[in-house]
Amino acid sequence: MRGNANPWEHFKSLFEQRADRPLPPLKADLDYTQLPRSLARSLAVFQLGESGGGTVVSQARASRLDAVDDDYASALAHFVAEENRHASMLAICVRLLGGELIRSNWTAKLFVFGRRLIGLRLKILVLLAAEVVGLCYYRLIASRLPPCNLRNWLLDIAEDEASHLEFHCAFLRSQVRGPVSRFVFRSMWWSLMTISEIVVLVDHRRALRDLCIDRSEVRASWRSYRQTVVSAVLESSPESGPAGSAACVSM
Ligand SMILES: [Fe+2]
Ligand SMILES: [Fe+2]
Repeated sequence: MRGNANPWEHFKSLFEQRADRPLPPLKADLDYTQLPRSLARSLAVFQLGESGGGTVVSQARASRLDAVDDDYASALAHFVAEENRHASMLAICVRLLGGELIRSNWTAKLFVFGRRLIGLRLKILVLLAAEVVGLCYYRLIASRLPPCNLRNWLLDIAEDEASHLEFHCAFLRSQVRGPVSRFVFRSMWWSLMTISEIVVLVDHRRALRDLCIDRSEVRASWRSYRQTVVSAVLESSPESGPAGSAACVSM
């Protein structure tokens, strides 16, 4: 582990401070059914993706990886709880939009497959790709909505995702050392993001079209974060701890 201070205290404290936030009231401040129907279906897919994920915590508790300790596992447990809160918020959004929740989806299955197939480091890499996808998507969707609760909730979720991005980058920064692991990280990250982009652009094409969000705009947003992650993981000075380098990920 780099540095003397426990690098996970920052994230543990941040997530603990946010742990008691109540869910927003199930109340429509405008007629959401006037918004494109495809948006409800699209958010239902993200709602499914935000659910579950508890196995990564038990895996972290059992891990013997360098830099993984009880504080990291605790911070990870709070992170999973925040994702489940996002799932609850998105469920409210889907209902307000007149849509229905779903129990199964091919992109969610792919994501779950990726999470189950691999060890903790690659599992966090998959989660990091999901953070980039979600962060960009929620902000783009919000940019096309009029001022309303739904827009505010999506921006709130995106703000959480930005700190999750920093958290996962901090973990990977503690694991990626030496030229071989840097090469492996860079290769896997770009492959994973490329697959994620294709999958999301295909699965959410109707919502993107109905909200007049051009694919090039989505790609440009992803590209920016994709490079931000590479910089945050590979280009931080060895002296800077995970919390100390977090600002470079914030947008
Ligand atoms: Fe989330
Ligand atoms: Fe997240």
